Amino acid sequence: MADVSSLPPRLLPVHFLGTGSYLPERVMPNSELESMVDTSDHWIVTRTGLRERRLAADDQATSDLASAAADRALQDAGVAPDDVDLILVGTSTPDMLFPSTACFVQKQIGARNATCMDIEAACSGFLYTLEVGRQFVQSGARKCVLVIGAEKMSSVMDWQDRATCILFGDAAGAAVLGPGSGRGIIHTVTGSDGTLADLLKIPGGGSRNPTTPENVNDRLQYIKMEGQEVFKRAVSNMTGSAKQLLEESGLTMKDIRAIIPHQANARIIKAVGQRLGATEDQVYINVDKYGNTSAASVIVALDEAAREGFVKAGDIIMFVVFGAGFTWGASLVEWGRGQ
Ligand code: ACO
Repeated sequence: MADVSSLPPRLLPVHFLGTGSYLPERVMPNSELESMVDTSDHWIVTRTGLRERRLAADDQATSDLASAAADRALQDAGVAPDDVDLILVGTSTPDMLFPSTACFVQKQIGARNATCMDIEAACSGFLYTLEVGRQFVQSGARKCVLVIGAEKMSSVMDWQDRATCILFGDAAGAAVLGPGSGRGIIHTVTGSDGTLADLLKIPGGGSRNPTTPENVNDRLQYIKMEGQEVFKRAVSNMTGSAKQLLEESGLTMKDIRAIIPHQANARIIKAVGQRLGATEDQVYINVDKYGNTSAASVIVALDEAAREGFVKAGDIIMFVVFGAGFTWGASLVEWGRGQ
């Protein structure tokens, strides 16, 4: 009979060993958008909660933002680049169609021993990436996983479309996952509905509508969105995922210290919080400063919340997300480094 004693143990608790984020220096306030499209600071603040967003420099690609965040997360975790054995990047704005942005990150941070791949779930990107990373650590297949959410949304925004160009920003966040004692990531739910894919998409630049002069002329390389429909589905699916997560975990909102939601729109976040019966001080919001940074938003918010002391070791926190696809999900974590 084969000796199985050297095989990794199954179902290890998975912890955040460190986090980091990177926000580009350039700040774009709403007032700047007033001079570009027919909008106003008042409209943007009241309809979305955004006051400003960050924009990457022309020579910064998504992997540059991601690598800066990854360096900070590794430093926070006290982990050397050579110890990372898997890099997962959640992004909808990869540097190129291939190679993966994760491979570019590997090169920049010098993580020579890592396997690298990207995960595409639009604004749900970080949660999906986290869930895939968790499976690798929990099964014992990998010991040190860098999970990243990174976006250069400004590269796919139509600066002539006032309904979308006011909403997004550029950012990256990263977390180092590893095994530890205690609960760590407690439970996750995810779901998708591809029948609604047309409601939020970037139609050009892929195999359906390749980059041709005609398609570029038709502006197919930019975000197209049915805003009201997205709004309604975001509220109902985020609320539904959070309720499912609590029920399956045997917990209630009273057990939760903080909800860290996808930062799409302050009205969406408030509507979800109200439907869950959360108090205002349970819900973390930074969409006013950074806008919707898609796959980066939850991990940037988590990193900020942890540094500000909004979440502390032992707290139970909830992530809840929604994005194009449609995709959605929620995750519960007992915060702490698992030692
Ligand atoms: N400035 C001024 N007026 C505007 C602007 C603007 N920037 N944008 C739209 N309007 C106008 C519209 O033209 C419309 O005018 P009309 O009444 O004369 O026709 C009016 O404002 C109301 O437009 P609505 O679309 O009904 O406005 P709404 O309150 O729905 O807000 C918004 C629009 C902010 C886009 C909202 O629908 C929303 O947040 N949707 C969800 C967006 C989102 O979260 N997307 C990301 C999802 S995650 C991902 O995967 C990327």
